[in-house]
Amino acid sequence: MSYANILSEENNSITTITINRPSKLNALNKETINELHDAFKEADLDKNTKVIIVTGSGEKAFVAGADISEFANYNIEEGKILAAKGQELLFNFIENLSTPVIAAINGFALGGGLELAMACHFRMASDHAKMGLPEVSLGVIPGYGGTQRLPQLVGKGRAMELIMTAGMIDADSALSYGLVNHVTTQEELLPFCEKIAGKITRNSSVAISAAIRAVNANFKDGVNGFNTEIQEFGNCFGSDDFTEGTKAFLEKRKADFPGK
Ligand code: COA
Repeated sequence: MSYANILSEENNSITTITINRPSKLNALNKETINELHDAFKEADLDKNTKVIIVTGSGEKAFVAGADISEFANYNIEEGKILAAKGQELLFNFIENLSTPVIAAINGFALGGGLELAMACHFRMASDHAKMGLPEVSLGVIPGYGGTQRLPQLVGKGRAMELIMTAGMIDADSALSYGLVNHVTTQEELLPFCEKIAGKITRNSSVAISAAIRAVNANFKDGVNGFNTEIQEFGNCFGSDDFTEGTKAFLEKRKADFPGK
């Protein structure tokens, strides 16, 4: 599929999705959100893709937020629909994807950009990345899950401070907060993400999807994560990957997982 605002390319079982509106610092307009939904869906269904990396084009920005020019004249109802649709199509969609998603934060990740990175399963940043949720400086609050995921990742106090001040933190602070897992130079960011993704591709994709569901269960209201873990753990015993993984171990060889 070809897109107006994003690029998607698969190599060595890793699909890299690049948000490609550098003149607008890769801001998320509706069209881009729809295209991202389609690209993530396509990659998730693609049997060759075992890991997805999402990044921004250019040197300056991962994503500088939702496209302010699109919603500046919205009313209350339109605001609610904007947040609900975005969460459904992109942010919750990524979080619940079966395929692991890594955010490669290559510059500004602000507002919807940081919310996009936080919806991914984990994050890496380049040393000049800047992150924040500046929405209150526009008279609005984060609407793509930022008020929920930021406290989950960095704790309530730090999240409150970052949201209330509308400030930005640099990559080293984000690392010390646990918001990103690693910081690299700009040049090393994608190769480093690909190296980590490569390690993931060698493991059972069936088990990895089950692990995503089990970990996510911890953050879902009314769901007992320990019960989800028991169910997902048990289901793994019915997979060809489990048969191959345990057989390979006992035969002292590397597993060649069929992915089913
Ligand atoms: N929505 C729409 N357009 C955006 C945007 C956004 N979130 N962020 C940047 N852009 C556009 C700018 O309007 C500008 O477009 P123009 O050249 O047609 O005028 C272009 O991207 C470059 O941005 P600019 O502001 O000139 O770059 P800068 O280096 O001076 O500042 C930022 C960079 C990131 C600090 C600044 O762009 C910014 O504050 N962006 C908004 C961040 C935000 O509030 N995000 C949350 C939205 S809910």
